[in-house]
Amino acid sequence: MEFPLKEISGSKENTKKIADEFAKLLKPGDVVCLNGDLGSGKTFFVKAVCVNFGINEVNSPTFAIVNEYFGKKKIYHFDFYRLKNEEELMEIGFYEYLNDTEAITFIEWSDKFPDILPQHRFDVNIKTKNENSREIEIIRL
Ligand SMILES: Nc1ncnc2c1ncn2[C@@H]1O[C@H](COP(=O)(O)OP(=O)(O)O)[C@@H](O)[C@H]1O
Ligand SMILES: [Mg+2]
Repeated sequence: MEFPLKEISGSKENTKKIADEFAKLLKPGDVVCLNGDLGSGKTFFVKAVCVNFGINEVNSPTFAIVNEYFGKKKIYHFDFYRLKNEEELMEIGFYEYLNDTEAITFIEWSDKFPDILPQHRFDVNIKTKNENSREIEIIRL
């Protein structure tokens, strides 16, 4: 997989294949930021990546702000959608999660608080084209 990647995925299966390829190059300490409208497939993508690490219980962290999963890799999964301000993140020690060099961190709706994101990260931007088709862009920053 080479970056920047921009691809139309015409099906969920196709998106899973992209996620499988992406999973292969993820390393502990990496941060992956996902953006795109509701229902575009951010959680779907995180789920599809995590299956590669033997993790099958990925769901949007609605009330907890962050979910933790343990498989072949340790995963933190944030969703900024419901957050009102950055303070809520600081209260739960956001930077301690980010600085955990043993974990891979996923952040849905990261664009809400662009100032607190690490400089080095992957951005996964997803656009809904139609019911089954998505434009997926992955950038390495
Ligand atoms: N090509 C595709 N890639 C990813 N998801 C798709 C695709 N086609 C349809 N979908 C559906 O889109 C929905 C995405 O939902 P979800 O991942 O929860 O979105 P988000 O987290 O961005 O709000 C899922 O129901 C998934 O089955
Ligand atoms: Mg989601």
